Amino acid sequence: MEKAAASAPGKVILFGEHFVVYDKPAIVSAIDLRARVEISIYSREGVWLREKRMSNHPAVRAVEYIVQSKGFSSGLNIKISSDIPPSVGLGSSASIAVSSAAAASLIVLGRLDRELVEEAAFEGEKIVHYNPSGIDTTIALNGMGGLYRRSIGFTKINIPIEKILIIDTGRMRKTGEMVKRVREYMERNPERFNELLMIEEKLVNEALDMFKIGDLEGVGRLMLKNQELLREVGVSSNEIEETVRLALASGAYGAKLTGGGGGGCVICLVDEDIMDRVSKNISRFFRTYVVRLLAEGVREEKV
Ligand code: PMV
Repeated sequence: MEKAAASAPGKVILFGEHFVVYDKPAIVSAIDLRARVEISIYSREGVWLREKRMSNHPAVRAVEYIVQSKGFSSGLNIKISSDIPPSVGLGSSASIAVSSAAAASLIVLGRLDRELVEEAAFEGEKIVHYNPSGIDTTIALNGMGGLYRRSIGFTKINIPIEKILIIDTGRMRKTGEMVKRVREYMERNPERFNELLMIEEKLVNEALDMFKIGDLEGVGRLMLKNQELLREVGVSSNEIEETVRLALASGAYGAKLTGGGGGGCVICLVDEDIMDRVSKNISRFFRTYVVRLLAEGVREEKV
C-alpha cells in the first residue's frame, strides 16, 4: 500500500478525569468531532510530518513505534486534519495518535491491528500527558461510551444522553501540567486525597445508577459534585467557574470541566428541547459546540 488513511473520534469525560490516573473509574464517551490522518510512503528515510522532521509529536512517535517494532524500512510522511480543537480537554492528541497508528498499521501490515495501534498510540500520548491513564487512547480506539479503569480497561455502557453542549473557555493549557498539579496536591494532602478518591468512586457508581433510570437531573447534580472535587484538587479556573455558572443560569441540569482542566472545555448537560437556545445564549460569550455522544471509534478512511 502506497497510501492509507484513518480517523478517530475526540472524547468527553463525563465523570472521573484526573482520579482515573489513580486507578479510579471514569465515564467517557466518544464525540462526533474527528481527527483524520493520511500516511504515504515518502522518498526520504524516517517518519515525517508534512515533510518536516518533528520527533516530539504524538503522531510521529506512534508511527515510529510501529515502524520500529515491525522493522519497516521505507520513509513515511504524515498529514493530519482535525476538527477537534487542540489542548482544551477533548482528546485531540489521542485521536491524532490513534488515527496515525491506524494508518501506519494499514501501510506496514496491510490491516488494522488494534492491539498494535493501542500500544503505539499510548507511546505517542506519553509525549503530551505526563502520566497518561490511557482513557483518551482507549476511547479513540473503541468509540461509543463506557467505563474506564486503568487496571481493568474499557467496559461499554449504555449512556442515555444523545447530545451534549461543550463550551470552550478559550484558555489553552497542557494536560501534563494539570496532571502534575494534582500529584502535588496529593503529596501535600495525602489523607484528603484518599478521601476524594473514595468520594469520586461513589459518585461514578451513583452516575451509573442515574443512567440506568434515565434521570438526567440527577446526572446533572452529580456533574456539579464532580466539579467541586476537581476544584478542590486545583484544576478548575476562574473561566471554568464562570462558564459553569452561566450554563446553570441558562437552564443546564449540570456542568463541569472535562479533561485536564485549568481552562479548556466545560461540558453542560442540557435538555434537548432547550439545547439550541442555551448554546446560542452562551455563544455570545464563548465558543460552543453541540456534539453527539457515542461516536464510532477508529476506522479506515478512503484516500
Ligand atoms: O485533557 P485531555 O483531553 O487530554 O484529558 C486528560 C484526562 C486526564 O484524566 C486529566 C489525564 C489522563 O491521562 O487520564
